[in-house]
Amino acid sequence: MSLLVLSSCNLRKETEDVVNVYTKRHYQVDKDLFAQFEKIYNIKVNVVKASADELIERIKTEADNCPADLLITVDAGKLYKASSQNLLQKINYSDFPNSISKKFLDKNGYWLPITYRARLIVYHKDRVNENELSTYSSLIDPKWKGKILVRSSKNAYNQALLSSMIANLGETKALNWSNKIVENFSREPKGNDRDQVRAIAAGVGDIAIVNSYYIGLLKSSVDSNDRVVGETVNVFFPNQSTSGTHINISGMGLLRNSPNTENAKSLMKFLVSDYAQSYYTNNSYEYPVNSNVNPSDLIASWGNFVIDSLDLNLLGVNRKRAVEIFEKSDWK
Ligand code: FE2
Repeated sequence: MSLLVLSSCNLRKETEDVVNVYTKRHYQVDKDLFAQFEKIYNIKVNVVKASADELIERIKTEADNCPADLLITVDAGKLYKASSQNLLQKINYSDFPNSISKKFLDKNGYWLPITYRARLIVYHKDRVNENELSTYSSLIDPKWKGKILVRSSKNAYNQALLSSMIANLGETKALNWSNKIVENFSREPKGNDRDQVRAIAAGVGDIAIVNSYYIGLLKSSVDSNDRVVGETVNVFFPNQSTSGTHINISGMGLLRNSPNTENAKSLMKFLVSDYAQSYYTNNSYEYPVNSNVNPSDLIASWGNFVIDSLDLNLLGVNRKRAVEIFEKSDWK
């Protein structure tokens, strides 16, 4: 009898000790941290990777049968989208360390940030004078004709940036920017953020718009070619005397139908812990959201900067309009 009880108890425990994560993140650092979490907490982390839109569709299709506990994205706009479709439950922030900077918390209470990243301007060290740079908007100046590199407007990082510009400058100026910057492109948009920096090194253009951590990854790469590429450019934080540099968070939402809520909360706490935050910044070169943790030496060497303090949900609210503007403009 007692054996039976024991085995059914074990079975129940076995089905409980998992956390199911639907994630857009594709970085080694996540793999490492999940493996460390599994060891420390004895909770298995099951991971499904896809784009945020695909994951959101999957969560809706699976509905009550959805096994996922956490949705992790690299864009507050997509977390806003999930929350606005009633897929997330509210988070009690008092359950989490109060060292998480308040400015990175969701004003509506639906998501928890993991890291943040800045969308930077990088420029060729010798071919561009830093004093000539100022804002994202100023990149439409005709003096930069044939010099600007940026990836496709289909990319979420650019859509989030344009969403922030709609909020800060209005739709007319955002549309004008999207139209005019194309005239300064060195080439048709192609490749990812790192490819834009590689193109600067190859002499295709002089200035690129890229996420901060990719510069950290290039400058510290084990691949010596990438290190050379990384050393070709300097970092510039745009909009320092206007709205601040556009940032976005990578973050997580607890799903409304999460079957393993307590395990999910344990993973959430682990990912914002001092230990994990330090691991992120020193390996993925993202900025920590936990104020107990300093950014890695490499990204700290770029200095402090004024962050655009926009409500990050606006990156989701304005997204549809941003996509429409991109479709109207020539930025493919
Ligand atoms: Fe990325």
